[in-house]
Amino acid sequence: MAKARSRWTCQGCGFQTSGFLGRCTECGSWGSMVEEVSSLDSQSAFSKNVTRSVLSSDGQESTKPTLLQDLKASHSERIFTGIPGLDEVLGGGFVPGAVILLAGDPGIGKSTLLLQVARHVSAEKEVLYVAGEESAMQVKLRASRLNMQDSRVHVDTQQDSVKISETMQEFSNGVAIIDSIQSIFHRDITSAAGSVSQVRESAQIIINSAKAANIATILVGHVTKEGSIAGPRILEHMVDVVLHFEGDRTRQLRILRPNKNRFGSTSEIAIFSMTEGGLNEVGNPSEFLLGDRLNKMGSKQAPSGTAVIATGEGTRTLLLEVQALVSVTTYSAPRRLANGWDSNRLLQLIAVLEKKVGLGLARADIYVNIVGGIDIDDPAGDLGVGVAIATSLLDRSVDSSTIFIGEVGLTGEVRPVVMLEHRVKEAARLGFKRAIVPKCNLPINIRSKQMEVIGVETLTEALLIAMPGIDFSKSEKKKDDAVFAAAMQDKDFPLDMKPFM
Ligand code: TYD
Ligand code: MG
Repeated sequence: MAKARSRWTCQGCGFQTSGFLGRCTECGSWGSMVEEVSSLDSQSAFSKNVTRSVLSSDGQESTKPTLLQDLKASHSERIFTGIPGLDEVLGGGFVPGAVILLAGDPGIGKSTLLLQVARHVSAEKEVLYVAGEESAMQVKLRASRLNMQDSRVHVDTQQDSVKISETMQEFSNGVAIIDSIQSIFHRDITSAAGSVSQVRESAQIIINSAKAANIATILVGHVTKEGSIAGPRILEHMVDVVLHFEGDRTRQLRILRPNKNRFGSTSEIAIFSMTEGGLNEVGNPSEFLLGDRLNKMGSKQAPSGTAVIATGEGTRTLLLEVQALVSVTTYSAPRRLANGWDSNRLLQLIAVLEKKVGLGLARADIYVNIVGGIDIDDPAGDLGVGVAIATSLLDRSVDSSTIFIGEVGLTGEVRPVVMLEHRVKEAARLGFKRAIVPKCNLPINIRSKQMEVIGVETLTEALLIAMPGIDFSKSEKKKDDAVFAAAMQDKDFPLDMKPFM
């Protein structure tokens, strides 16, 4: 038997040392080192036994280098999941033997999605569902909600990774679902299930089995409060595909986004809504997300502090409402909070609004929220976020049928965006009448006669179109002061918050 040895592992980054450290020298986090006693050698006992073999075209296993042209291309056959959006995200279904990590917050719907996949795949292939977190009874209850009592899915509540990998050998060429990797342990490691070493060793054993027996394997991974996959990034390097399941648990909408895909592009996304009978794909996500705002279009002005943006999610366009709230701060350093939007981008945009447009935001708390619980990182949203902040500060409503598309640079210029035509077309389809876009992107080919496309060069220009009648030019400072003072009259703004003071 291998000699037991103790090592200290950082639970943040997986760094290991033989002695205790108060602060991890790798990632700098304090108090994250946990002692783990292991009887494993540096390489796990199981991973030594299983060699990843290469199948040559004659079917012979070989560990010697093989000519590329002689390798068997098994990627051509795919296993369809029964959910077209998921197949697309995977690049055309599961590749046999591939390992997929499905990460997401607890309660987002990972188990539900995978049971639905299991239901479809089990009609043709052997499917193993390892429920490490739930009892067989709970799985059965969920299955009956999804109306799949009769499906031929094999449920196992085993948590020992070595035993799971043994069971997996019976599911050769099939599909295995491990729900979740944090609930699986390796018997030779003393730390609790879910710790870095446990996750790493257990995943390694399961991945080796998946490759050896050609099983498409899905590992469910929970996400930590900071947003990374618990048992950190180590897992992302070990698997072939990383899918993130995102959304607001309290709402219906969920987005499945690939972060890494060895067998397809990472630009496709799938959008689902959680219903009584499981997850359904949403055909028209923009309509779903804009909801009431679409009904009011044309008849009413939108409330101050809101704007609609068109964000590109892979090859799709999503129309989203941005909301901003600007209020006088009671703190010495004002608060700037972004929900669904990158907070550094927000700070940058605020600086541009102050220095280049001339708005007085130095003493203001600023909150920005993307409605629908969706995280976006598309710079084309800058213009809409800027408009939302400015209209909130000045308490001016905007035309509800206008959409804002454009990246804002540090000099206040509006920069070009990709797929502009696609974005404007989607807006026109939903009934928007006016699009404020980067001038350098024009001309674009929009057939809709109802849609007016206006090119702008600077953020100030866009604000002037959104709020006609306001003059931001410093040469007319006096007039501006009067306008802004009037806008802020009832709000008791401190003097130094007024623009240009
Ligand atoms: P679940 O798949 O258990 O989430 P995860 O595995 O990511 O932790 O789903 C959690 C939520 O989904 C739960 O709050 C109940 C809800 N749900 C439905 O709304 N409809 C359904 O048909 C099912 C099965 C679950
Ligand atoms: Mg679950």
